[in-house]
Amino acid sequence: MKYRRLGGTGIRLSMLGLGTLPFGTDTPEPEARRMVERCLEIGINHFDCANIYGNGKAEEVLGRCLAGVRDDVVLATKVGFPTGRGLNDRGASASHIDQSVKASLRRLGTDRIDLLYLHRFDNRTDLEHTLRALDRLVGNGTVMHLGASNFAAWQVATALGLGALHNWAPLVAMQPMYNLVKRQAEVEILPLAQAADLAVLAYGPLAGGLLTGKYGEQRGQIDGRLTNDPMYQARYRDDADYRAATQLARIAREHGIHPATLAVAWCAGHPGITAPLVGGRSLEQLEPSLAAADFVVDAELRARLSALTPEPPPATDRSEDRPD
Ligand SMILES: NC(=O)c1ccc[n+]([C@@H]2O[C@H](COP(=O)([O-])OP(=O)(O)OC[C@H]3O[C@@H](n4cnc5c(N)ncnc54)[C@H](OP(=O)(O)O)[C@@H]3O)[C@@H](O)[C@H]2O)c1
Repeated sequence: MKYRRLGGTGIRLSMLGLGTLPFGTDTPEPEARRMVERCLEIGINHFDCANIYGNGKAEEVLGRCLAGVRDDVVLATKVGFPTGRGLNDRGASASHIDQSVKASLRRLGTDRIDLLYLHRFDNRTDLEHTLRALDRLVGNGTVMHLGASNFAAWQVATALGLGALHNWAPLVAMQPMYNLVKRQAEVEILPLAQAADLAVLAYGPLAGGLLTGKYGEQRGQIDGRLTNDPMYQARYRDDADYRAATQLARIAREHGIHPATLAVAWCAGHPGITAPLVGGRSLEQLEPSLAAADFVVDAELRARLSALTPEPPPATDRSEDRPD
């Protein structure tokens, strides 16, 4: 296993992190335990969760699975999406953050969160208010480090500026979506990360399962998120995404590997990426993603894969200034 830096914090993270979105729902606890144990066995030390996964069940299951190794791992969770029906059971207000973190600690069975993300930007709450609340949590040792997920680069940059101005605990990590058919992060997020020394933990490296080769261009009634979940159907609705997935599967076959291995390795190979967050319902599903730790996508293969999908346009329209 290779290890990478969590920005300038001194913490080292495995080049793959385990995502735990289905723990306690699609993935029953015994299977989750097998997945965690397999990850620990190959040197993965980074586990990603959120307060809302399975309405808190994922944190409970993950906490129990990590009980014996708590101090050896980097445990991440998130706050921001609604946790109840109450008007204020959501967002990045100081009160919701405090309540949510307390509940996460209880469910995870731990006294600290190593990496707490704002799960998305909350445009109803002043960023100063949120950052001050987060700084208090870092100050009292409840949270070690801070991150932002699903933020635009300008939102992260604003938070960094405010943090520097007020001497608040800084954001050290971003968690964007990034995969071969969702490459928006290349435009601003990944360059910001490289310029500001932020870690990037990429979610969705298999495009919710599209890049495993199981769907095919005909989009048969496959049991999976892209068939069963309207949000994912909408996210990956373009025929071009399915064509790219078919091509990726063909190239994977040429190399004698699973398409998921190639998709995760492509994601991990971007110099701005610290670690893809890999996941599956079962250990069987997870294994091809774990194999990406041992498969290097060289420059030629990277160029071939990257050519399967359009490179997103640059952040400014001066296309003539782009390097060759
Ligand atoms: N910050 C955020 O907003 C955010 C959002 C999403 C996820 N995340 C984090 O990132 C982690 C990974 O994200 P993700 O689950 O969306 O990743 P993903 O790798 O894009 O998709 C994983 C899904 O693909 C399918 N799959 C995986 N391996 C397979 C295989 N070998 N064969 C067939 N199907 C396979 C499974 O779903 P099916 O069996 O249903 O097809 C699996 O749950 C999550 O666990 C979570 O920790 C964060």
